Amino acid sequence: MNTLKLTTEAKDIETAAQIIARGGLVAFPTETVYGLGANALDEQAVAAVYEAKGRPSDNPMIVHIARASDIGQLTPMLSPDIVAIIENFWPGPLTIVVKKKPSVPDRTTGGLDTVAVRMPDAKPALDLINRAGVPIAAPSANLSGSPSPTRAKDVIADLDGRIDAIIQGEDCRVGIESTVLDLTSKEPTILRPGIITAESIEAALGKPVKYDPSLKEAAQHVQLDPAAGVAEADFQPKSPGMKYRHYAPKADMLVVEGQRDRVKEEIERLRVLNERLGNQVGVILFEEKAFIEAAHDFFSRLRDLDREGVDLILAGALSDTDGVGFAVMNRMLKSAGYNIVRV
Ligand code: TXA
Ligand code: MG
Repeated sequence: MNTLKLTTEAKDIETAAQIIARGGLVAFPTETVYGLGANALDEQAVAAVYEAKGRPSDNPMIVHIARASDIGQLTPMLSPDIVAIIENFWPGPLTIVVKKKPSVPDRTTGGLDTVAVRMPDAKPALDLINRAGVPIAAPSANLSGSPSPTRAKDVIADLDGRIDAIIQGEDCRVGIESTVLDLTSKEPTILRPGIITAESIEAALGKPVKYDPSLKEAAQHVQLDPAAGVAEADFQPKSPGMKYRHYAPKADMLVVEGQRDRVKEEIERLRVLNERLGNQVGVILFEEKAFIEAAHDFFSRLRDLDREGVDLILAGALSDTDGVGFAVMNRMLKSAGYNIVRV
């Protein structure tokens, strides 16, 4: 298949929208990461997304809409919490999980009776959804398991020849995927952390917000038993996407956690040691409190280091007491397969 390379100009968006409307697949930029879009109400189109990504088909997709009022097509009930979230955070990098209407195909939701919905704020994404005239199901536009794509060239590296078209826009502003917030149970629960943090959601809702226990568990296992490593199969997360090995670079990866100066020293020591033994080593060490920058750069750094062909990536852990730091650490630990040392 020849993948059409499109721009964000109106005529190209129109071409992309027609492809979506007739059941095709189009990668497009959002503010978080690039998405691989298909008509969310077309089971065959959604099946083709799983196929192109090589993704297990029980992993549900996020349905993207261009007007908040379109959520009524997808869910039968708008609680005060849902309304407050929409008013405070849409458009933007926050996905909500709500009860689904029967018209949303099982394929789209991985057989769940809930649906994940978000209204992105990136203009090309909104234009595409509007023009297509249908809600667009879109997972991140990478091959399943590899780092999420934050630049058009990352999408091309993974999916060229496997999808109908790609809208080549700007690099993504946020750099990690949206926060996923479950609003189907009594207590609002974060299933996937992102740059919209628990604290800001609590402020908007005026009530406590939980983290899915598997998120905290993942972080704690690592701290309790750093040497052992933790199999993802040990967790039973509510968000099915969290159970797969994710974001993995081709290189081996080790996270070094601890007090800042000691982390720097240990990374340097391991770098020298490994290079002496003939390994090419890449280092990811963000400024201490630059959480937003870390979110922005993390996936593109992984991909650049893979492109350079490094054998080993050494990464400095960020503080996870900050909400955004926690979100980046969630990705970093997964990329490293929970391979972590404390110093
Ligand atoms: O920022 C984003 O959210 C990007 C862009 C393209 O919008 N999309 C994205 O999609 O990250 P994906 O498919 O890579 O991740 C969707 C996450 C998965 O962890 C999935 O399990 C979860 O959302 N999810 C989707 N529907 C769900 C549902 N009904 N209940 C619980 N979790 C759900
Ligand atoms: Mg993904």
